[in-house]
Amino acid sequence: MQRFFQGEFTISNKEGINNLVTEADLASEKAIFEIIKNDYPDHFLLSEETGEIVTDSNYKWIIDPIDGTVNFAHGLPLCCVSIGLEQDGQMIMGVVYNPFLKEFFFAQKGYGASLNDKKITVSQETSVLTSCLVTGFPYTYLDQPNGPLEVFTRLIRGGVPVRRLGSAAIDLCWVAAGRFDGFYEHKLNAWDSAAGYLMVEEAGGRVSDFTGGRYSPYQPHIIATNGKIHDELVSVVNNRHATL
Ligand code: IPD
Ligand code: CA
Ligand code: CA
Repeated sequence: MQRFFQGEFTISNKEGINNLVTEADLASEKAIFEIIKNDYPDHFLLSEETGEIVTDSNYKWIIDPIDGTVNFAHGLPLCCVSIGLEQDGQMIMGVVYNPFLKEFFFAQKGYGASLNDKKITVSQETSVLTSCLVTGFPYTYLDQPNGPLEVFTRLIRGGVPVRRLGSAAIDLCWVAAGRFDGFYEHKLNAWDSAAGYLMVEEAGGRVSDFTGGRYSPYQPHIIATNGKIHDELVSVVNNRHATL
């Protein structure tokens, strides 16, 4: 956070010209690893910058040391640390912290979701046409029919407000908190969505792949909503909606 306010970090590129990694991403990952390894030395780790640290533990921590790195590098305070914990392949805990807005989101399987210790729930909106949605775009353009730009255009042409914040973990938490009615994205990694998808489910929402089927963070597609607009948003994403 200090590095953010002082602009003191070096930036380098990963795959795709704007896919950045800053010193702060690496420093954040190192600090998180130290804490987890200190308390749980035999747990499996999966983190964006390092990849997998494989053990035979049935606990796996899934870490995005900074989600929203482009925002961070440009001084936009929409970025966070995202950590999910899996036990035997099931997500059991998620935390997402945005230090700039001082927002701490927490979810535990079966116990609900909270923002700064206050319970959160998804919105009550029942129609995509009157929803406020959020999405994200991959760093490398997906030039394919029904890809990110086509779906976005369809919604915007239909007059549906669709925001793009630049942090999938925050997008998901803001669906969980009822600020957005739904979120979809075409190409995420497990570290982007691990904590956030549990947040949405525990806040009473629904998360699926693009078919509307059971969600896995190990495949790229995600649709996360308040539940009430879910089937309708699945039809929009698949270009099967009657009017959009
Ligand atoms: C990115 C953000 C963004 C999403 C990209 C992700 P990063 O993560 O979550 O919202 O659209 O697909 O890669 O690179 O800032 O950790
Ligand atoms: Ca990310
Ligand atoms: Ca990241």
